[in-house]
Amino acid sequence: MGNYQFDAFVERRNTDCIKFDLAARRGLPEGTLSYWVADMDFETVPEIAEAIRDRTRHNIYGYSMTGDGYYDAVIGWMRKRHGWETKKEWYFYTPGVVFAIGMAVRALTEEGDSVLIQRPVYYPFGMMIEKNGRRIVNSPLIQAEDGRYHMDFEDFERKVVSEHVKLFILCNPHNPVGRVWTKEELLRVGEICVRHGVFVVSDEIHADFVWSGHHHEVFAALKPEFADLTVTCTAPSKTFNLAGLQLSNIIASNRELRERVKQEIDKTGYDEPNLFGSIACEAAYRYGETWLEELREYLEGNLTWFGEYLEENIPRIWYRKPEGTYLAWLDFREYGLTGESLDQKILNEAGLWLDGGTMFGEEGEGFQRFNLAASRPYLEKGLKQLRKVFGRG
Ligand SMILES: Cc1ncc(COP(=O)(O)O)c(C=O)c1O
Repeated sequence: MGNYQFDAFVERRNTDCIKFDLAARRGLPEGTLSYWVADMDFETVPEIAEAIRDRTRHNIYGYSMTGDGYYDAVIGWMRKRHGWETKKEWYFYTPGVVFAIGMAVRALTEEGDSVLIQRPVYYPFGMMIEKNGRRIVNSPLIQAEDGRYHMDFEDFERKVVSEHVKLFILCNPHNPVGRVWTKEELLRVGEICVRHGVFVVSDEIHADFVWSGHHHEVFAALKPEFADLTVTCTAPSKTFNLAGLQLSNIIASNRELRERVKQEIDKTGYDEPNLFGSIACEAAYRYGETWLEELREYLEGNLTWFGEYLEENIPRIWYRKPEGTYLAWLDFREYGLTGESLDQKILNEAGLWLDGGTMFGEEGEGFQRFNLAASRPYLEKGLKQLRKVFGRG
């Protein structure tokens, strides 16, 4: 028995959290169960609440900044958990990773330039490219017979050259397909970027959720030539469920590159970090390791258990345990439904709110993303509803 109760259901409704409270505002049927947005239903590290409570005793919340203790904690985490030696001056913070990606797109490319992504992929990548007047170049991932996705290196390099790609947004671990890219894969894709002078934004927000048998490789740490053209996005927000506190740590060892992105941030007027965000980040990285280890065990248990349930009860939904992330990428293609009718059936007949696969690109047609970072009883409730509609009958 561990120290933390991940099996306990925590009622989150009526807290203005988007996972549960947005459903009513969107007019979704009452009682719809939520398994969509990538946040978790667990109480986080107790020391985070303590640190925040401690700070509220002062009850003055003026402009604030990050101190040495903050950097010690973040740098220590990168070293210990990811074997990555970073320096304080490589860091800057933003209110989120998507914000940082938008800033990097603006800083490192011009309007009309091409930015490459690998769909199906986390949809804000495409949004940040298009909303900033840049062009999406898609090098789709290829799905092998066993359901595992791979990068298409030939297609990638061909498009880098023919479309004059300036920037590549790498998702590692990959949301939604759950791949943790191997060293060999990253070396191969990185060499292409070096060869053609393509900048890389490496989104590593899911790095702390990599499951047994797999290892997270920090892209920028693989080779000095990679570090030189890379902006790495990290955050405590996925690992410790702090998204509402709006703080991410962006890392670039190349001074010129870093300054370019920071100057773009300066133009927005964003300056000081959110006080509670930085307090929570420091406490999480300083005290959160035991909690994280227990959580990881629970989540990995969910991922395995979920697969067993499907195999036994809804075998026509195809699922491969993700190598990283707590997101299941479910293949419903055997049912022969279009993306739209699948979404409708899941919402209106099964009563579940999942993320429809086409949100991640047309490659996601026939797929759904199911967030497994919830208590097992709550997951079971959703699976039972899914079984009634998609099960053996
Ligand atoms: C790959 C990836 N990047 C970024 C984010 C969101 O980051 P933020 O909330 O810091 O903008 C998510 C959230 O699901 C994600 O999956």
